[in-house]
Amino acid sequence: MTADADYIRTEAIEVWRRSFFRVAAIVVLVVVVTLMMVRWFLQQPVTRAADWLRRLRHGEADVEEGAKEFGYLVPLAREVTTLAENLTQARFAAETEARLRDQAEHLWTAERLAVHVRDRLGSGQLFVVSHREPFIHMRKKGRTECIVPPSGLVTAIEPVLQACDGTWIAHGSGNDDRAHVDDHDRLRVPPGENRYTLRRVWLSPEEETGYYEGFSNEGIWPLCHIAHTRPIFRVSDWNYYQSVNKKFADVVLDEINGTRHPVIFVQDYHFALLPAIIKNARPDARIAMFWHIPWPNPEFFSICPWQAELVNGLLGADVIGFHLQSYCNNFLDTVDRTLEARTDWEQFSIRRNGHVSNVRPYPISVAWDESTENSSPEVDRDVAGLSRGNGVPQPGGPSLVKKDEQAPQVSQIGRAIVPDMLRRELGIDGEHLVLGVDRMDYTKGIVERLLAVEMLLQEHPWYLEKITFVQIASPSRTGIQKYADLRVEVEGTVERINRTFQTSAWKPVVLIQRQCSHSEVARYYRAADLCLVTALHDGMNLVAKEYVAARNDCDGVLVLSKFAGAAQELRDALLVNPYDVAQVKEAIITGLAMPVEERRLRMTRMRHQVKEYNVYRWASRILADLCAVRIEDDILAVAMNRSQRKRA
Ligand code: F6P
Repeated sequence: MTADADYIRTEAIEVWRRSFFRVAAIVVLVVVVTLMMVRWFLQQPVTRAADWLRRLRHGEADVEEGAKEFGYLVPLAREVTTLAENLTQARFAAETEARLRDQAEHLWTAERLAVHVRDRLGSGQLFVVSHREPFIHMRKKGRTECIVPPSGLVTAIEPVLQACDGTWIAHGSGNDDRAHVDDHDRLRVPPGENRYTLRRVWLSPEEETGYYEGFSNEGIWPLCHIAHTRPIFRVSDWNYYQSVNKKFADVVLDEINGTRHPVIFVQDYHFALLPAIIKNARPDARIAMFWHIPWPNPEFFSICPWQAELVNGLLGADVIGFHLQSYCNNFLDTVDRTLEARTDWEQFSIRRNGHVSNVRPYPISVAWDESTENSSPEVDRDVAGLSRGNGVPQPGGPSLVKKDEQAPQVSQIGRAIVPDMLRRELGIDGEHLVLGVDRMDYTKGIVERLLAVEMLLQEHPWYLEKITFVQIASPSRTGIQKYADLRVEVEGTVERINRTFQTSAWKPVVLIQRQCSHSEVARYYRAADLCLVTALHDGMNLVAKEYVAARNDCDGVLVLSKFAGAAQELRDALLVNPYDVAQVKEAIITGLAMPVEERRLRMTRMRHQVKEYNVYRWASRILADLCAVRIEDDILAVAMNRSQRKRA
């Protein structure tokens, strides 16, 4: 019995043992299989997904790659992929914003100005007032042409209005202007683009003579420019100046009627009385005045019999802008000596009759076109019909060269010969183009510049048949005697130089006396080896900046008067005293001989300056300062009541 029981126990133990091993084997198998499955189906995809996420974080992987890394974990993959997409988008947005912020700190564009001004204006509107209108309709030989006048002011303000819309109030000076306005003397411009409103103001011939030619241009213009032309002050001109200022003020008040928070930007010496007239009628209006010409020292300004009235008129503005700090200083000095007012030299502000005017320098500039910056200069030259040659002068070539004359080193690389098409148009055969672009104005130093060219040809006959000086002189203020005299003098000087030096194949000076379009002038800018901007005195001078802006090939040399406001910024120009004819002549020689590396370095630095401090930045600074002016609530309430009563 005992033996039987032992057998059963042994068998049971054996069964248990076998079962144990079987179960253990199964467990091991299950564990191994599970581990393998975990490894194959979970760990590997998770590792790959983690690796993908890490690469995504470093910006090394695409979002689409993610789905396949997750394998069968599709719902999870979907969620993580969405998350990854959001992450990528957020990173892109942050980068874009950072890049824009970085660029924006430097570069002002039309778009940025538009946003900037709209933000600051809020529900307000921009109104610009100037004498010169941006588009003139002229009828000639049965055809009407729409002309953009040669005015630094128009060059600067037009892009601002294009960017921000608004209303530009100006004198309608074209003989066909009336045919192009509506019943309210308004039209949308530029023609065909309709970006902003131009409101034309009509003047009688007597008003034009007295206010524009007389008081503005025979009085204030020579008063503010040190060009040794005596200012003329006539009582009758002063009377017209006052009445025309009043006339423009009435138009402005009409335009802003019903507008809350109007922002008014008055331009130049034609309207010194306007700010005070408007401020009296609409104390809620924010008014900026920009004086586009120099402001002389108080002794000079005191020549004007109506200096107190002019200064008082200007002080109606909340912001008064000049190109340079020195003009601001002169203005504060003038106020100190002319009127009862509190000048604050710390803040550069003036308090008079409870109203504060801030006086600031805002150096004006030109528009900067980003799109042309990286365009190929070669393409531009082709578009303009220009060709590029080495332009190497052949020593001993022309018959008039003195035997012992040493050929100056003229830099060869990248130097353009006067392009074929221009040459054909002008009938010239010089290899190097020296350029001047101005209004025919005695402040521009055109005669002195011609004398420098004459001296160059006299003293260095090697340049004969090598250079051609093209002077574009657009007719300006032709009704004024001094301007008529200047024209005769310029023509006489050009004639003398040509008579002395010209050959059958070559003319040293070409004088173009007509208004050239922007694109036409740009062709000359791009073709000119050297641009002469030798004004005797100039608030800023935008030709200097236009030349730099046009040179997207980073070539060309600028010779610039140290008496032009632009000289404060364009330090890489060859700066000259325009009265020193020999110095200007030397600058031409230096410029033409300048090695290409130096030309490029100088031009690149000047382009950087003009790009950074372009007209959009100029406008943004003035308008931001103006919009920041606080108008007290009680003033606002009074003004709105007045405006409502007027409308009723
Ligand atoms: O740049 C100075 C300036 O007086 C501008 O104000 C004016 O528009 C420009 O010269 C041209 O003068 P005008 O308008 O008399 O032709």
